[in-house]
Amino acid sequence: MTQRVRLGVNIDHVATVRNARGGALPDPVRAALAAIEAGADGITAHLREDRRHIRDDDMIRLKAAISKPLNFEMAATEQMLDIALAVRPHAVCLVPEKRTERTTEGGLDVAGAREHLAPFVAELSRAGVRVSLFIEPDAQAIEAAAALRAPVVELHTGAWRHAADRGETARARREFERLRDGAARAAALGIECHAGHGLDYEGAREIAALPQIVELNIGHFLIGEAIFVGLSAAIATMRAAIDAGRAGA
Ligand code: PXP
Repeated sequence: MTQRVRLGVNIDHVATVRNARGGALPDPVRAALAAIEAGADGITAHLREDRRHIRDDDMIRLKAAISKPLNFEMAATEQMLDIALAVRPHAVCLVPEKRTERTTEGGLDVAGAREHLAPFVAELSRAGVRVSLFIEPDAQAIEAAAALRAPVVELHTGAWRHAADRGETARARREFERLRDGAARAAALGIECHAGHGLDYEGAREIAALPQIVELNIGHFLIGEAIFVGLSAAIATMRAAIDAGRAGA
């Protein structure tokens, strides 16, 4: 039987809307609970260094409130490590972070930053946190992740979706092939393979067809769709798209 793909719902942009007015609403923890009620298998939140959306107390409240795994996205800094070790989420996804970027624009340079990343992977793993590295689907990055003994990689789907959204069919096909090959290589090395960034219903359906993909983390599109159809309906439609992709429909 083919394994069901897990859906992690990223609730960062509920906090973006909250922060636009400086108050407490809409509450990302309420969104996380609603997402779980609607079928999310886990909740993802990115505590950025500039705290532009999720804040420290959101992470603490999320960990206390939710019954499903919390995936804490963070840059590999000492301050973030201290917070993660205090919160003890189920998983940490280490991401590159630039203050001026609008979103996480590329994957980690794992090969180039191996010495810097090694203690983060080791210390979080020792604390019982499952560590994931957010990377481009490149052989070099995947092999460097294996050398660091990261149990999980999350493949950045942004370049693929960007090309598809712009109608650049040939480029989108090449990017998808990179993801297909990257997922196969990660799995062959015994690394659990996740994927995310810029996924909509169609993107999620297509990537779920890759048999090595275990989890998808999806935020911006779902929170945007929720404005029109509600969070529960958006998650239900996403779930159906992922299941259809995995079933080969
Ligand atoms: N995975 C990672 C590691 C991310 O940094 C992000 C964006 O915060 C996502 C998944 C979700 O991307 P999107 O919001 O475009 O669905």
